Amino acid sequence: MKIKVVENYEEMSKEAAKILADAVKNAVNPVLGLATGSTPVGVYRELIGMYRDGEVSFKNVTTANLDEYVGLGAENPQSYVSFMKSNLFDYIDIDPSNTYIPDGKANDVQSECERYTKLLGNIPRTVQLLGLGSNGHIGFNEPGTPFARHTHIAELTQNTVSDNSRFFGSIDEVPRRAITMGIADIINAETVLLLASGKNKARAAYDMIKGEVSEECPASILQRHKNAVIILDKEAAWLL
Ligand code: GLP
Repeated sequence: MKIKVVENYEEMSKEAAKILADAVKNAVNPVLGLATGSTPVGVYRELIGMYRDGEVSFKNVTTANLDEYVGLGAENPQSYVSFMKSNLFDYIDIDPSNTYIPDGKANDVQSECERYTKLLGNIPRTVQLLGLGSNGHIGFNEPGTPFARHTHIAELTQNTVSDNSRFFGSIDEVPRRAITMGIADIINAETVLLLASGKNKARAAYDMIKGEVSEECPASILQRHKNAVIILDKEAAWLL
């Protein structure tokens, strides 16, 4: 793993945006695996700025998001499909038909998982962007999830429901299930770029980097990836 510790959230966002923009410029068919949550918001802001300055175009870019809450669709502002539109897609020149997110409102969520797994097999990601759950999760792969799993339905832990409740009116509104890329899908990317910012990520960052590779800390799998880049701000790195 390449580990870089930077001063703060802004620097982390700038460094990560540069890696993604370079991938877009250099790959023949760039495919970006994208993430949601507070962590990548600054990266998306930087990418929008680069697009507006004419430094990068997303015209030939394909994206595949990590996850979506079961039961939430485009009409719900808390869905990840809404998040991606309002934080990135609506402000760049990407073709919406090249942006993929699991369908949280599919009638048959199990078939949706199988469809998404197949889709990911057809669009190998150039770079997969990841945040880090405070319990070490990546996507919605909670501790204990087998590394070999592909896209599946995840039952969210109480810890994750509580972490994510800040985006909802109340904790009762947080969906308890999500469709998530599995670890087997995530590590198929050529480069995996994980970002973590803030003290509440410090324990998970420590376990990911210094702990043993274990399904109890899903992010620890990145120790085995041939091209994993971890960017931490000082607060997230303070236990290292
Ligand atoms: C969520 C998402 C993850 C994200 C993580 C951290 O549950 N499913 O993809 O990386 O939590 O979120 P945040 O960046 O808001 O701290």
